[in-house]
Amino acid sequence: MINKFYVNYFLLFFLLSIALSAKGQQQSARQHLNFDRSWKFSPGNAADPEKDFNYGIGNIFSKSGETSNTCIGVDYADSSWQNVRLPHDWVVKLPFTYVKNDDIDAHGYKPVGGLFPQNSIGWYRKNFTIQKADSGKRFELQFDGVYRDSKIWINGYYVGGHSSGYTSFAFDITDFIQFGKKNVVVVRVDATQFEGWFYEGAGIYRHAWLNSYDNVHFKTAGGVFVYSSITGDKAKVFLKNAVENKSLRTLADSVYSYITDRNGKIIVKGRKLPVSLSVNGVGELTDSLAVSKPRLWSLDDPYLYRAISLIIKGGRTVDSTMVRFGIRSLRFQSDSGFFLNDKPVKIKGVSCHQDHAGLGTALPDYLQFYRINLLKKMGVNAYRATHNPPTPELLDACDSLGMLVMDETRLLNSGQEYEQQFRDLILRDRNHASVFMWSIGNEEYVTQRTDIGKRMAQHQLLLQQELDPTRTSTYAANLGNYYPGVNEVIPVRGFNYNLTGIDAYHKQHPLQPIIGTEVASTVTTRGIYVKDTVRAYVPDHDITFPSWASTAETWWKIADERKWFIGGFAWTGFDYRGEPTPYRWPNVNSHFGIMDMCGFPKDIYYYYQAWWTDKDVLHISPHWNWKGKEEQPIDVWINSNADKVTLFLNGKNLGTKAMPRNGHLVWSVKYEPGRLQAVGYKGTRVIKSTVETTKQAARILLTPSKLKLTADSSDAVVVNVSVLDKNGREVPDADNLINFTLKGSAEIIGVGNGDPSSHEHDQCARGHWQRKLFNGKAQVIIRSGTRPEAFTLSASGSGIQSANLKIEQDKGE
Ligand code: GAL
Repeated sequence: MINKFYVNYFLLFFLLSIALSAKGQQQSARQHLNFDRSWKFSPGNAADPEKDFNYGIGNIFSKSGETSNTCIGVDYADSSWQNVRLPHDWVVKLPFTYVKNDDIDAHGYKPVGGLFPQNSIGWYRKNFTIQKADSGKRFELQFDGVYRDSKIWINGYYVGGHSSGYTSFAFDITDFIQFGKKNVVVVRVDATQFEGWFYEGAGIYRHAWLNSYDNVHFKTAGGVFVYSSITGDKAKVFLKNAVENKSLRTLADSVYSYITDRNGKIIVKGRKLPVSLSVNGVGELTDSLAVSKPRLWSLDDPYLYRAISLIIKGGRTVDSTMVRFGIRSLRFQSDSGFFLNDKPVKIKGVSCHQDHAGLGTALPDYLQFYRINLLKKMGVNAYRATHNPPTPELLDACDSLGMLVMDETRLLNSGQEYEQQFRDLILRDRNHASVFMWSIGNEEYVTQRTDIGKRMAQHQLLLQQELDPTRTSTYAANLGNYYPGVNEVIPVRGFNYNLTGIDAYHKQHPLQPIIGTEVASTVTTRGIYVKDTVRAYVPDHDITFPSWASTAETWWKIADERKWFIGGFAWTGFDYRGEPTPYRWPNVNSHFGIMDMCGFPKDIYYYYQAWWTDKDVLHISPHWNWKGKEEQPIDVWINSNADKVTLFLNGKNLGTKAMPRNGHLVWSVKYEPGRLQAVGYKGTRVIKSTVETTKQAARILLTPSKLKLTADSSDAVVVNVSVLDKNGREVPDADNLINFTLKGSAEIIGVGNGDPSSHEHDQCARGHWQRKLFNGKAQVIIRSGTRPEAFTLSASGSGIQSANLKIEQDKGE
């Protein structure tokens, strides 16, 4: 199944190649086929070779193609293995398990890693066929992320291994293919060793692709680099192409590039540049194309052009690539901050890990867009991918939606393996308009103050400048006002927390721009207003934070008041599995999110939204269901960007208060059931907001993120679940158990509710999907099927009216 993006591209390319030559040149042979479907999966065992299909006792590395008595051979009978499709994270289904161990705690109490050898190995097998007619081409297997330490065999032949759980990699598998016959790819994944201190999942949790192209082709890693410079109302777009010759002849070919607008209309054509290629050699050549009056990529108008490069051999196009790119300028100034297209932009950022409710780390692409959209609505303009390379689809979402990205390599180390990881990251991501800077590491407490740290940083910075001179780098240092070590050489000084040190640091190092690589770490639980040490909840107001952290208000005031301070990345946009803080078990998720695991806003969201957007924000918290607390005082918080706010309880005026800039308002209100209303005055306008005491839940409400899916078995929809009372008001403290059934060609793939202490299943057995509401909300994620017809999601609960939701599916474009 060819990915849609490429289908459009091929259509475009086909039309173009006809237009290019009177003879009608042949279409490029390159293909990029999605390889996610029809995998077989079985757990192995890291401690018992017999339970690991004899891996470790079969001497498979003694001879090429030797598979001994393992499951690696072509004819191994895998019919009893589970059918899975990628992306696949096998850890999300494992039960929460208490073990007194810091790493298990940090990974969200899932039984994986060295203490759980029975859950830490995964084997994957997949059959595929390649026609004899294609035997002249080259084939490459690409994985965008396998957690971790993967080994790959094709038809019993060991192709290679990749240890990082986060970088993309590809192997040329041409030599191992049996054309016209069954081929088998086998992947062993070993998640025994962790890489981070947060939930990491395990398995082939991002897409896999089968690429094919001519012997003469653009290199996969770094084959085309597109960048631009802007002068006045003109831009020069540079296309740096690397062409590889895997044929047995020296060749003289040419490379030709052109640029189109986002609809495929050609704007400017380059020259045919000759390239001579030695056998097994790489030719590099750069063209520069002028674009007059470019439409600049910006946060509000993330306009993307396309650069197409072709290799022409004897009048025939043998390879072609297409890169979506943005024309924009980036500038960091130590005295005045960051500039995008010469306009100052304060970084209103969030750091994020990659897992989502219900799914673990295996997210359909739609979820990347869904999550980035939620952040945009909150007013976020920058995303820090912590602490590892993100999936490419996240960057696609940021390119398309207008979100800057700080792209971070897993750790600071200039040894061969980690140097390679940083190289892979830059070569893969440097064409993305959204990526505005690199991060060479985070809180390397062993080395960051040392000479070794400084030299390693310098090494990685040289590499970055070589591979991408258009950007700069930072390093996320939790060091406060401290200079020796990494900070001596880093172009943009990153502060993790410790913002009380920025003024002195800025004074002492006035030429180094400063950014808050990580700030806040405020902890809140959605819909909870009383600290609960048993269930491990903290109040949903901007008041609780660990020793190294701060409230949202504290850091944002500091950031907003200093022109030279670039801004910062609040830890974190969404809750994530692992790092339960300030509590431990039964808490299995972090509380750091401004939104919970499902993307439901916590109250602190409205603080940021009030001061990060121009929208009218007037948010009252808490809810007003406090049966049994009559006459007791309740702190009512108002998050708003109105100039002043008046609060009314059941029509009684409780006073008017002026809203401090970057602040919030609090009233202590004696509880009586009824209606709490805030009236905000913003300039000449009046805004109103109300919370009411509700009655008990009467019916279920299903709110889908969209009403039509593409029937490609990849598209997805997020359905939010809540309950209403008989007057149609959402019940904010409901905890009903809701059962879900789906009729039609589509599949529920995960459920969640944002409860950081929930031990319910994120993924249930077919026919048994269910989830409790947590403070009135739950979420169901559905993946599309293959038939272009509607499906129905039904939700039911005891004593309440059920709900049915019909969602259409069509074939897409
Ligand atoms: C930081 C660290 C993050 C996360 C956070 C929690 O020091 O970089 O990964 O652990 O603390 O507050």
